[in-house]
Amino acid sequence: MSLALFNQLSIAICIVDHEYTIESANASFLDRLPANQSTVVGCSLLACFPVHRQFLQQNIDSVFSTQTPLLSSGSVIVDTSLEVGSDAAHKWQDIEFLPIPSACGVVTQVAICFYRPTMLAAPKQDSVTTMSDSQRLKRSSDAYQEVVSELKQLQSQLLQSEKMASIGQISAGIAHEINNPIAFISSNIRTLYDYLEKYSAYVHQLDEKIDATANKVLSADRQALKDKIQLDYLLEDASDLIEESLEGISRVMTIVKDLKEFSRADNGEWVSTDVRRGIDSTLKIIHNEIKYAIEIERNYSPQTPDIICQPMQLNQVFLNLLINAAQAIEGEGKINILVAPLDDEHLMIKIKDNGQGIPDEALTTIFEPFYTTKPVGQGTGLGLSVSRDIIAAHGGQITVKSEQGRGTTFTIVLPCSDKCAGEITSSDEEAIRGGHSA
Ligand SMILES: Nc1ncnc2c1ncn2[C@@H]1O[C@H](COP(=O)(O)OP(=O)(O)OP(=O)(O)O)[C@@H](O)[C@H]1O
Ligand SMILES: [Mg+2]
Repeated sequence: MSLALFNQLSIAICIVDHEYTIESANASFLDRLPANQSTVVGCSLLACFPVHRQFLQQNIDSVFSTQTPLLSSGSVIVDTSLEVGSDAAHKWQDIEFLPIPSACGVVTQVAICFYRPTMLAAPKQDSVTTMSDSQRLKRSSDAYQEVVSELKQLQSQLLQSEKMASIGQISAGIAHEINNPIAFISSNIRTLYDYLEKYSAYVHQLDEKIDATANKVLSADRQALKDKIQLDYLLEDASDLIEESLEGISRVMTIVKDLKEFSRADNGEWVSTDVRRGIDSTLKIIHNEIKYAIEIERNYSPQTPDIICQPMQLNQVFLNLLINAAQAIEGEGKINILVAPLDDEHLMIKIKDNGQGIPDEALTTIFEPFYTTKPVGQGTGLGLSVSRDIIAAHGGQITVKSEQGRGTTFTIVLPCSDKCAGEITSSDEEAIRGGHSA
């Protein structure tokens, strides 16, 4: 830039080096300094503005270290003569710090442009560059709040997923630990049963021998001893007790098997799975949550294809939806589960209840984290938001349709192979028909 042009600019400009020494300054800059400062070249910029020393130093340092221009607002007033109101000396103005690179591209100088408060105030009042510091502060504080609240939500979702993952791991561990003692209890009871049968046979043979002697005294003594301990009843009842215990053990083994199936640690791996198995094992796990008055109807298509998924994650979705459905039913009710291919590339799962339903105005908010209508301590409001995230991670979609007083249907559409993940077409949307999507 020519020196003449540099000096004609109404913006006050000075150029400083690493040491904050002013290497050049234009006429506007010099004009606007107090009368006793007619020249500043060679002086320290910080010394010229002792009050604003820290502000200038920080901004210049920042340009040298980041090598990028910086627009900042400060109360550095170079134009003390300018009449911009009674509080001119305190007017904030925008200052630009521009990096000046040397021929080899390294920033060796910084140009500082001081804009007049009047120039900035009128025409650009709404633009970002003329934003007052309080506006800037408010904007950054709002953005900060937004980030904090997003982080809080993410943290809670993470906690919920981690909690589920650890419940999965713990139950898989417990299931494994229970298996061993159950196995030897079962084996010992079978051996005891065997011993009991042999003992019964021995008593029976002994009776025959005593009867063969035709010794009435001996027979009477034997009967007295038998009656005293109710031997016949003991032998009969012992075998019933053993049979019942074996039945109980077999039930515990089934529960352990279901628990292992439900919490199958997939280690985040994607495996090919039949979701019907996942739904069945989930139903067994929540057996006690689902009241006796609730009938479960399963409509599983025999053509249901296996899908590539994280089974434990999908089980968590089924668990959330089934528990919600059960909780929405007061008294008698029905939950209908449908699994069927939607088309060649997608699988559809519908979980329908005839519970209380969801009001229209809540349909768009139920998937938001922390939205709950359940009493404190009963619902965290994370079930549906976590479910939505899991389905999205599987490239699928979850939608809801509900009518108050009549019931609710959640529809999940999942791609059958990872190739078509995320490709839910308009015809699929048509099949989901009108539901509110998450
Ligand atoms: N099948 C349903 N019928 C009626 N309302 C439902 C149904 N499913 C969800 N809702 C509504 O959506 C809200 C949010 O459900 P979500 O599963 O996210 O949380 P929650 O069940 O309240 O708590 P959490 O699942 O964390 O225990 C519920 O509180 C309920 O008002
Ligand atoms: Mg829930």
